[in-house]
Amino acid sequence: MRSRPHVLLSVAASLDGCLDDTSTDRLLLSNDEDFDRVDEVRAGMDAILVGANTIRADDPRLLVCSEARRQRRIRAGLPPTPVKVTLTESGKLDPAARFFTTGDNDKLVYTSTSALATVRDRLGSVSAVIGAGDPLDVRAVLADLAERGVERLMVEGGGTVHTMFLAAGVVDELHLVYAPFFVGQADAPRMVNPAVFPQGPGQRMTLTEARQIGDVVLLRYLPRHDD
Ligand SMILES: NC(=O)c1ccc[n+]([C@@H]2O[C@H](COP(=O)([O-])OP(=O)(O)OC[C@H]3O[C@@H](n4cnc5c(N)ncnc54)[C@H](OP(=O)(O)O)[C@@H]3O)[C@@H](O)[C@H]2O)c1
Repeated sequence: MRSRPHVLLSVAASLDGCLDDTSTDRLLLSNDEDFDRVDEVRAGMDAILVGANTIRADDPRLLVCSEARRQRRIRAGLPPTPVKVTLTESGKLDPAARFFTTGDNDKLVYTSTSALATVRDRLGSVSAVIGAGDPLDVRAVLADLAERGVERLMVEGGGTVHTMFLAAGVVDELHLVYAPFFVGQADAPRMVNPAVFPQGPGQRMTLTEARQIGDVVLLRYLPRHDD
């Protein structure tokens, strides 16, 4: 067995690299056809991970929407929808968030070892809470997921989480969808934050697909890394 799952990072961004705008309403970047494509990708996963801010901002359900896809998973001996995973240091997540309350699949919350007791106090009744190093180490999270049988992990935002996974060199596949507009706000969340990325100018990624999906475009890249 591999020591970590295959990691697919999936993101939709505006042409100026924003994940969202600064309003409280959810910004629609994709279109229906692309949402359906993402649903198919989700249906092929063992787990889906988002950061705590994404749960606070978007209250996502993170389920496989299509009944036909859920049935396909059940026939394959899988739960109807992948395990949900999040990262938090503060533990400040609402136990009534849809991340916790929808789907009869497992929920996993990873935090640093030093925050474990606090986060368990806040969320232990709605999720498993796991300490993964001090500070939290993305490779420890991945190793724990692998031990739990997760072979394919989809990372779905936000920018802090993207940055951590990309900078750690643990992304095996990048799906990037560009919406046909600019957000133009200095404070809007970016696809990634400044960091030292192994996928820098000296390590150009391999572009494996560029596909038009209605008014958006999907770019698929394979980053290179050593493990
Ligand atoms: N367009 C897209 O594809 C897409 C997808 C997802 C999200 N989004 C957008 O992205 C925005 C959120 O992005 P974001 O960068 O602000 O937040 P984020 O990446 O969703 O979450 C960041 C939070 O996750 C926790 N976290 C991250 N790294 C950690 C670590 N190493 N150890 C412990 N906890 C860690 C922390 O939670 P605590 O603060 O609780 O400690 C941190 O504040 C929202 O506007 C959302 O709508 C867009």
